[in-house]
Amino acid sequence: MERVCVTGAGGYIASWVIKLLLAKGYIVHGTVRDPCNEEKNGHLKKLENAEERLHLFKADLFDNEGLRTAFSGCSGVLHIASPVPGTLQFDDPQTEILDPAIVGTRNVLNACLELKVKKVVFVSSMVSAMLNPKWPQGLEMDESSWADVDYCKTNERWYALSKTVAEREALEYAKKGLNVVTICPSGTIGPMLQPTVNASSLLLLSYIKDLEGRSDGTKKTEDAERAVVDVRDVAKAIVLLYEKQESEGRYICSSYSLMTREFVAKVQSIFPDYDYPQNFTEPKITERALFNTKKLLNLGWNYRPLEETIVDSIKNYEEAGLLNTDGIPTRAHPPYCLGYKLQRICG
Ligand SMILES: NC(=O)c1ccc[n+]([C@@H]2O[C@H](COP(=O)([O-])OP(=O)(O)OC[C@H]3O[C@@H](n4cnc5c(N)ncnc54)[C@H](OP(=O)(O)O)[C@@H]3O)[C@@H](O)[C@H]2O)c1
Repeated sequence: MERVCVTGAGGYIASWVIKLLLAKGYIVHGTVRDPCNEEKNGHLKKLENAEERLHLFKADLFDNEGLRTAFSGCSGVLHIASPVPGTLQFDDPQTEILDPAIVGTRNVLNACLELKVKKVVFVSSMVSAMLNPKWPQGLEMDESSWADVDYCKTNERWYALSKTVAEREALEYAKKGLNVVTICPSGTIGPMLQPTVNASSLLLLSYIKDLEGRSDGTKKTEDAERAVVDVRDVAKAIVLLYEKQESEGRYICSSYSLMTREFVAKVQSIFPDYDYPQNFTEPKITERALFNTKKLLNLGWNYRPLEETIVDSIKNYEEAGLLNTDGIPTRAHPPYCLGYKLQRICG
């Protein structure tokens, strides 16, 4: 049976990737920072076939020895771990986000080279294509669009900078003989396997629950263009890129682009009883989020209807009791999202 390692195993996207790999018969190694943290990683042990075929390894992205141990014997590494913040503001962007994403990716790729790993899938983000002010207005962004690094620095878009630099470096490893492909998913939503809420799920939650606790209709929401994709379709794409011999370079992974107002209306038409935003404001910065996913579709990827994602997400939040509590247990770093203060459970 083939062995594959997934970094950041307890995370939102990684958990779905591991579930899929286990269902397909792989032996899965997963790196986690704290194997004893049940709140972060306990859900992994409950996945079908986990007892027999999932092995967790303790490894921070700066722990080269830990990474090597985890990758040992694996033909593939799916590098998913990276800080995903729920805010644009940081006390120290270098240590909080840039180093783990960039130096961490370098560490992962060097370990893969050393251990002669056959294929690496690096999970980047749509932001590494999106923040490109020179891209023609109204034209869908494809794999040829790269975020402008100077624009990211000037506008303090540290997450976008971290993903762009890390992805560019990852693709350079092809010249050193490593088979690396990258994937740039858009805003990822859909049901969670993990018990603590990740940053992108908080966005959808914020539409149906006023995270600041107001119920007087004063909540204001920016009417920005949003590109979204279902987490289960992202997991499918990551595994597809790993399995397809002919996959190469980078791949945009996005299903729908719509304005916040349209998105909220869609959710409200299916679940009319929640407290939806009434007031929409012009976004402070206008950034298009219009993507062309032909390259991934041509490889055999497909995606589900948006309505299915919405229904499954809201049911998941209801079952997890997230809609009728005051605090939201979050794994986003730091514990703020969209200006809301959240109850941080995970360290
Ligand atoms: N969600 C989205 O909308 C979206 C869209 C595009 C791309 N992505 C990319 O997808 C990946 C996963 O995102 P997600 O949404 O699943 O976020 P998530 O649930 O917050 O997962 C992030 C993972 O990264 C790990 N991590 C962070 N810093 C680390 C470090 N220094 N050493 C080791 N592990 C570290 C976290 O470990 P702990 O569990 O120990 O905290 C966690 O497992 C990221 O690379 C992100 O950039 C996400």
